[in-house]
Amino acid sequence: MSVSRRAFLTSIGAGGAGVLALPLIQGRGREALYAQSSTGRRADRMAAAANGIIRIDSNENPNGAGEKVFQAMHGAFAEANRYPFKFEEDLRAAIAKLHGVKSENVLLSCGSGELLRVTVQALTSKERALVVASPTFETSANFAKFLGASVRSVPVDAKLRLDLQPMAEASKGAGLVYFCNPNNPTATVHGKAAVAAFVEQVGKTSPQTTILVDEAYHEYVDDPSYATAIPLAMQNPHVIVTRTMSKVFGMAGVRCGYAIGLPEALDKISPWILDSGVNQLALAGAAVAITDTAHIAAEQKKNREAKAFTRKFFESAGFAVGISDANFLMVDIRKDVKLFKAEALKRGVAVGRQFPPLNTQLRISIGTLSEMQRAAEALKPILV
Ligand SMILES: Cc1ncc(COP(=O)(O)O)c(C=O)c1O
Repeated sequence: MSVSRRAFLTSIGAGGAGVLALPLIQGRGREALYAQSSTGRRADRMAAAANGIIRIDSNENPNGAGEKVFQAMHGAFAEANRYPFKFEEDLRAAIAKLHGVKSENVLLSCGSGELLRVTVQALTSKERALVVASPTFETSANFAKFLGASVRSVPVDAKLRLDLQPMAEASKGAGLVYFCNPNNPTATVHGKAAVAAFVEQVGKTSPQTTILVDEAYHEYVDDPSYATAIPLAMQNPHVIVTRTMSKVFGMAGVRCGYAIGLPEALDKISPWILDSGVNQLALAGAAVAITDTAHIAAEQKKNREAKAFTRKFFESAGFAVGISDANFLMVDIRKDVKLFKAEALKRGVAVGRQFPPLNTQLRISIGTLSEMQRAAEALKPILV
């Protein structure tokens, strides 16, 4: 589905919080707007969590963490009475070893969502905008709007990929660029060379702008041109990479994420992070999870199989399915996703919400193969 750039820019505005959004915010108050949007999302999630619902709405790993992680967390409970300093150092060292960096290059967070918020807090303002794609994962832009910082949104291209040239242009004078790779919700990815070229271009035209590369779905990428941006972050104080334990590691409920960057980059954001905000059990579990290569490989395989089934189901039914380098797919169902989501829930399936301006593109998270087979049967009658 193509996105009308003109329609989009009319409603959002290339250089600010948006001509439509602004009067709303001023009229009702930023807090009310923020509370309303998070209440809506919470209601959706509570509906998905009801008994018997197939939960393919939030890009979670349906299988959860492995046995080794469970044992590590269980063992750490013996230390639950102590503050987690030692466990923090152990996890930072384990992450550093995994990526070939030093502990000083690792900043822990309560889910990577915390990092998305604190980067906005530390690096953006009314004068120093946040640059995002549209649609993309919304934590950064929502928080920026709440804080009163400017947001420049750049529509994804016709293939639902981040449109890097206009994003680079929009970055001039910006405080922060949120570069989600692979992008949620569109599941598209940019290769190593494209990310490096983007960083170089922004570095030349806007040397004070920080680029946050969110690699939440890193382990699900199959595109051979892709590589992590960690090497870029290790040589450029204006690049930060974020990762999460919530996806392939199956620990979304445990809440742990981290950033990789040079100390001068991390020093700008670490004062905003809650001290010891990651609990003892999460720290112990994450340290084991990141080295459990057998579990990671098993999860990647299960995701590939269930995703292939899901793609085939929708394509055989005549729907266009986008490229996916993640644990979710975008399908153009040619009808309004908001209405479809409500109908799907009545049939026991929680699917992704609507991501304007892609109003007919449905985001389907990949559950187990059996869940995807049952979901396909349940959704068939309402797809026609
Ligand atoms: C792209 C992206 N980044 C970050 C997050 C936040 O993850 P968490 O706070 O669980 O680490 C999500 C969650 O879905 C996501 O899709």
